[in-house]
Amino acid sequence: MQTMTRPATPAASTEAAAVAVTELVKTYPHPEGGDFNAVDGVSFTVAQGEVFGLLGPNGAGKTTTLEIIEGLKDPTGGHSRVLGFDSVADREAMKTRIGVQLQASSYFEFLTLAELLDLFGSFYPAARRPDELLDRVGLLEKRKSLVGELSGGQAQRFSIVAALVNDPAVVFLDEPSTGLDPQARRNVWDLIRSINDEGVTVILTTHYMEEAELLADRVAIIDRGRIQVVDTPDRLIAERAGAHSMRFTSPAALDEAVLRALPGATHVDVRRNGSHRYDVGTVTPNVTVPALFALSAEEGFGVDDLQVVAPTLEDVFLNVTGHTLRD
Ligand SMILES: Nc1ncnc2c1ncn2[C@@H]1O[C@H](COP(=O)(O)OP(=O)(O)O)[C@@H](O)[C@H]1O
Ligand SMILES: [Mg+2]
Repeated sequence: MQTMTRPATPAASTEAAAVAVTELVKTYPHPEGGDFNAVDGVSFTVAQGEVFGLLGPNGAGKTTTLEIIEGLKDPTGGHSRVLGFDSVADREAMKTRIGVQLQASSYFEFLTLAELLDLFGSFYPAARRPDELLDRVGLLEKRKSLVGELSGGQAQRFSIVAALVNDPAVVFLDEPSTGLDPQARRNVWDLIRSINDEGVTVILTTHYMEEAELLADRVAIIDRGRIQVVDTPDRLIAERAGAHSMRFTSPAALDEAVLRALPGATHVDVRRNGSHRYDVGTVTPNVTVPALFALSAEEGFGVDDLQVVAPTLEDVFLNVTGHTLRD
């Protein structure tokens, strides 16, 4: 596991971390007077080849953190390095090695997709061919279209593939699937996986816990400008999410105390509306589920509609921040 307080890596080299940020701070004037730290001492390291997710609600400081790393904003404090290049001092050298997804709305309105990719490519010594990039995301036949003529999913795929024009080693995606319908979101996820499969390091921000859970090798939970935890989704869930939920109904009214005495049970919630719906928390469902059936056979009550719901990153978020992702 990477620690959160690792010092910045030294000079640029192939062994350098893809991204190493140390104690980043960005101070803004507060709308109600005074200052506040939108980014408040953020440190993390991303290894080359990883997909790293910054998961947090709106206003958490995700975009600001990304823009500092990309060299688009100067930090008030701290340091950021990409592939060993300092995001401020080595900005120009760094920019040739990174890809940054722009918001679809920020493209020139009157250029076609192919013209935009040509233009972006002209900023770099070597560039991928527009048609190759468009073909990759199923937009070749749209090469003469304007961004404004694309569907939400197409525009998003275009903005991601446009970040690959210079063959970057590290790509930054800011909320790549926000606002998309489930199918378009899945297409974006497939695209991000295929980019990473080619060895490109991906740093993405999201406020969708499924997106972080499905795509990221490691997730940093960020809230109010601070990183609360960093780890693989599986370890975060195993160590920080709490209990599974074993839910079922019964034709009979059951004794709460008996359910609470089931091996492994952490708590019992009972619906008070007479539906005999029970929710038993357990961290060891493989023990508690068979025990429930043994008890039902012994006492002669039925167990219907049993489902065991695993905890998610949402539960992790709630446990480490004290509020939900949507608050
Ligand atoms: N240019 C700015 N001036 C003042 N406040 C800003 C500026 N940019 C962002 N903020 C504030 O900083 C906080 C973090 O914003 P941002 O990084 O955009 O969060 P996120 O991307 O997680 O939604 C928010 O409270 C936002 O209003
Ligand atoms: Mg943002």
